[in-house]
Amino acid sequence: MTTHKNRAAWLQGPSGTCETIAANDNPVRLVLLGAPGVGKGTQADLLNQRLKACHLSTGDVFRAAGKLAECDQSAAMKDALGYMRRGELVPDATVWEMVRERKACLRCGGGFILDGFPRTLSQAESLKKLTEEEGLELTAVVNYELPFSEIVARLSGRRTCDKCKAVYHLTERPSKVEGCCDRCDGKLFQREDDRPESVKVRLEAYERSTAPLIVFYERLGLLVQISAVGTPDQILENTMAKLNPRRQRYVDRASLVS
Ligand code: AP5
Repeated sequence: MTTHKNRAAWLQGPSGTCETIAANDNPVRLVLLGAPGVGKGTQADLLNQRLKACHLSTGDVFRAAGKLAECDQSAAMKDALGYMRRGELVPDATVWEMVRERKACLRCGGGFILDGFPRTLSQAESLKKLTEEEGLELTAVVNYELPFSEIVARLSGRRTCDKCKAVYHLTERPSKVEGCCDRCDGKLFQREDDRPESVKVRLEAYERSTAPLIVFYERLGLLVQISAVGTPDQILENTMAKLNPRRQRYVDRASLVS
């Protein structure tokens, strides 16, 4: 089995071509839910290494667009980056346009891990309709939970690689060499929206718009609740323990059909 190395088709849109195409007999299709800073990106990265499913983060698409020269940014994208800097949610129409353009990524042979999407009921309804149209089934929706005080500590110490997007924490997951990525030697930076005033707005937006998705997915029988307390590896193992029976159900069903 091979994996996507650079997520180019997701980060750049239809013009991007991934380095290698994943192939998996039993692709996992996940949505990760949870407040900002709970550790979704960290878990998505570990799940990608374990399951080979592609990490599809909407926040990463916006941040990649923010690095383009201004003349290459669309008006909608400039607008989106303003919302992001303030910690507010980008309007549904802009987000949906961006995801719809990349719908081929949902067909990735390795499966996918959606991180940061959907984030509103309207986005969840749109994704449900799209996956139904495409004949794709979600394996599970994993909701990570963490006390508020821990979330703020995780966000304030976060550092991200400007090249490969690997995520570190100043005290909890430090890089070997300060300011430098262990994987690719990229430079580590602090995200603009991790400033205290933006964090407050992001947590409020989560409570108002994203938390209701827990009930939405519970009603669809897809929800898996995981505590985000503990080390990233412990949380990964707890996630895998809850995912494995669901993955097996798909294998069993597929063998009944064939
Ligand atoms: P996005 O990039 O999706 O950010 P987020 O959801 O706010 O989540 P974060 O990336 O902040 O946190 P995380 O849960 O991934 O935590 P991480 O693993 O980094 O979105 C950013 C913005 O884009 C939004 O505010 C919005 O404006 C816009 N946007 C994106 N999608 C949108 C959508 N669908 N609709 C509308 N707007 C949208 O971990 C955090 C820190 O904790 C790290 O330092 C990490 O090393 C550390 N850590 C992780 N796990 C552990 C652990 N177990 N123990 C100790 N430390 C840990």
